[in-house]
Amino acid sequence: MSGAPISRSVVRRFVGGSDTPAAVGVASALVEDGLTVTLDHLGEDTTDAERAGAVAEAYLALLAAMDRAGLTERLGPLTARAEVSVKLSAVGQALPGDGEKIALEHARRISSAARSVGATVTLDMEDHTTTDSTLSILADLRTDFPETGAVLQAYLRRTEADCRALAGPSSRVRLCKGAYQEPASVAYQADDQVDRSYVRCANILLAGDGYPMFATHDPRLVAIAQERARFYRKAPGQYELQMLYGVRPAEQRRLAAAGETVRVYVPYGSDWYGYLMRRLAERPSNLTFFLRSLISRR
Ligand code: FDA
Repeated sequence: MSGAPISRSVVRRFVGGSDTPAAVGVASALVEDGLTVTLDHLGEDTTDAERAGAVAEAYLALLAAMDRAGLTERLGPLTARAEVSVKLSAVGQALPGDGEKIALEHARRISSAARSVGATVTLDMEDHTTTDSTLSILADLRTDFPETGAVLQAYLRRTEADCRALAGPSSRVRLCKGAYQEPASVAYQADDQVDRSYVRCANILLAGDGYPMFATHDPRLVAIAQERARFYRKAPGQYELQMLYGVRPAEQRRLAAAGETVRVYVPYGSDWYGYLMRRLAERPSNLTFFLRSLISRR
């Protein structure tokens, strides 16, 4: 699979290299193009404590390398040109017994290292069985690191309430549609329901005092987020737009050139197979999503 030409081109397109120097190189090139970045060390669902510790160490090495490359310049009190995104399951959240505690400790070390170089941390959101645990770890982290970002998924029925709870001062919230296959009991199933929820959530976040981050490639939702931001008198820099590395790259640059703060999510590392294949397996429509990106010029 990894040797097949199609996988090689998919990996190159969507993964920012297999190691830290490669990822920092990709991030530097994006920053030179006027974009901002968030780097994600690939690997999730860690099943042993040693591996969780190794992932945390990888983040510390990454943050030091980002600092050396001059990537962590602050853009505002809550934002830096480059930051990191962390999946709590990669740092031990799912370990039996003390998993949550272990994940919190690793997240604290990463947050402390991030702060010392001027960067920030955003906690990715995984499937709905982890939402309460992730938000509880976020609340703990935010007592010392209020700049820690959350991700909320518009497809979850609970998310409007979570947006209200997280729309306060200095709260960074990345709003996405949601990438996992979730049951109807917890998640909207129809695309138009998810889109409507996204817009309701965007309004809540923009009406609040936090820093909303709109993560979507959907041109209609990007336009709505921009219009709603103007309605709530939020200028670019008081909110941002986010897209995945390799998806609509021309649009990322067009939006940045038009004055928007655009952040590109760059996953990197040798564990790319799991990242790409899980994305495809979790949600069949992700296959169309990746294939569309390969042929799209927009
Ligand atoms: P979607 O894929 O539904 O596409 C909607 C429309 O957008 C399409 O019909 C088409 O018109 C247009 N479009 C999309 N891609 C295009 C392309 N390549 N070319 C042209 N048009 C295109 N999820 C999660 O569960 N937890 C998380 O922590 C994160 N984190 C995250 C960070 C960032 C920065 C991003 C951008 C996304 C995430 N996600 C995520 C993933 C997210 O939940 C979602 O699965 C994907 O972004 C796909 O949904 P979209 O909103 O992009 O539109």
